[in-house]
Amino acid sequence: MKVLVTGGTGFIGSHTCVELLAAGHEVVILDNLYNSERSVCDAITAIAKKPVQFYQGDIRDRAGLDRLFEAENIDAVIHFAGLKAVGESVAKPLEYYDNNITGTLTLLESMRAHGVKRMVFSSSATVYGLSATPPFKEDAPLSVTNPYGRTKLMVEDILRDLCAAQADFCAVLLRYFNPIGAHESGLIGENPRGIPNNLFPYINKVALRQLPELHVFGNDYDTPDGTGVRDYIHVVDLAKGHVGALRLCESSTGATAINLGTGTGYSVLDIVHAFEKANGISIPYVIDPRRPGDVAVSLANPDRARQLLGWTAHKTLEDMCRDGWNFAKRAMEA
Ligand code: NAD
Ligand code: WQD
Repeated sequence: MKVLVTGGTGFIGSHTCVELLAAGHEVVILDNLYNSERSVCDAITAIAKKPVQFYQGDIRDRAGLDRLFEAENIDAVIHFAGLKAVGESVAKPLEYYDNNITGTLTLLESMRAHGVKRMVFSSSATVYGLSATPPFKEDAPLSVTNPYGRTKLMVEDILRDLCAAQADFCAVLLRYFNPIGAHESGLIGENPRGIPNNLFPYINKVALRQLPELHVFGNDYDTPDGTGVRDYIHVVDLAKGHVGALRLCESSTGATAINLGTGTGYSVLDIVHAFEKANGISIPYVIDPRRPGDVAVSLANPDRARQLLGWTAHKTLEDMCRDGWNFAKRAMEA
């Protein structure tokens, strides 16, 4: 298939482009480079040994989208583009609704005008909020606690309504758990600007000695060591899940939510110790109070992904720590 990948130069998008090319698909990237760089296309090409087409543009630009769909014969869209920082979304809700909701609506309208009827959407485990009991099954109650999460749930609802109205539309709503790591080549990975919000990039900055110590947000949760437990998934495993989702969209219609997680939980201190062991670098830390909005445990039930996509995660926590650091030590130092 010829696949439009919005946000394709970003962290998860770039890894997905590599896997799509390896599976024989053609890839067209649309990205406004708000949180990524043009050079990522060269890295994707270097890894996959196949070209990608790149359009610099914004998903909110209807005329630009129309030109793209007229020039390319797109079979399906994998939609990563959007803003993703929880804390920032509380401070800047209008920017989040504009990018993530208006942007998605504009994209869907342009798709409709050009007869494109398949979308794989980047949703998030954040839609399970505080009301579900881990490990989360896709039919668990959904709730959200911040504007970012609300944009993910709203787009899920929009796609469910669209599929109800348009019987030949397929939407796969992939709920990612906690993607970390990087491609083993070290050519693509995650390099957030400024002080990272998320655990793994923060640990990388401490390992580089660019930050003095990790702040562990709470050690009084009801978990084995008191620190928060998450379902960390290697970004290459996550990327491979999109190839399966595309296959599902080729052969079915309707809206289907699917967790992409491993089903195994690790605490903050598990991650610290695994990183230290895999890379031989000490990670000093201090215990701070809990971060508002955090849950004790977030864990996927990955059964549906296995059944519908024939997909399971294979990489280990050691792989995640080694590959993530292999990328970060070059990218973050530069
Ligand atoms: P990222 O920021 O690395 O990638 C997103 C890309 O979209 C960037 O390259 C950015 O430049 C681009 N973009 C943003 N707004 C755009 C717009 N209006 N028009 C065109 N391009 C735009 O983020 P990521 O970690 O790769 O996440 C990809 C998707 O997965 C996002 O939708 C995110 O919400 C979702 N997600 C991420 C995680 C995570 O932990 N990384 C977890 C769950 C869901
Ligand atoms: C992981 C664990 C923290 C930083 C977020 C979004 C979610 C999804 C993935 C997009 C928690 C602890 C963290 C630090 C710490 N993104 N921590 N010190 O919160 O599970 O999920 O990213 O959809 O929507 O909410 O990920 O990496 O921020 O935190 O102790 O400096 O690490 O408390 O237990 P989270 P995270």
